[in-house]
Amino acid sequence: MSLDKNSIELIKSTFSLMEDNGLKITEQMYKTLFKQYPECQDLFIAAKNQPAKLAQTIILFIQEIDDLNGLKKKLAFIAQRHTQAQVKAIHYPMVADALILAMKQVLGEELFSEAIATAWTNGFIFLASELMLMESQIYAESYNKKVI
Ligand code: HEM
Repeated sequence: MSLDKNSIELIKSTFSLMEDNGLKITEQMYKTLFKQYPECQDLFIAAKNQPAKLAQTIILFIQEIDDLNGLKKKLAFIAQRHTQAQVKAIHYPMVADALILAMKQVLGEELFSEAIATAWTNGFIFLASELMLMESQIYAESYNKKVI
């Protein structure tokens, strides 16, 4: 999957906003996620400094956005952690919901316009589809190991 040029430019334009507010956004996002989707809470039992780690990944995503191949190694590592925690495809729309809402709440609708919200939704879909693909391969491998 690739990300369209317009979304790339709009996401890049939010770099300093995300650098200044990333942690606030991810802290808010976990609050919303656990309130709206309490079934997600159990997945995070072993997680440490999760808001900071997600905020760093958001910054890294913007820095690498012109050549997203550079992000593959990081995404492969995240996919390993996700599969250990039993993250499934069904959880991605929940996180997408909570993340976009948190961006809107922290930055305000003037800075986080509809166009920027759409660009970030596209960015999330890009990251989520890469992660879900890697995760489905890891789950399939472990299933094959069990049945062979
Ligand atoms: C594009 C979407 C996502 C990104 C960029 C992302 C990013 C990350 C990052 C950076 C880590 C930390 C890895 C580490 O350094 O240990 C992580 C861990 C984790 N993520 Fe995600 N994540 C995404 C989606 C999700 C979804 C949909 C869920 C399920 C609700 C989820 C649940 C978790 C859990 C439970 C951990 C902790 C694993 C552990 O250490 O026990 N993530 N994720």
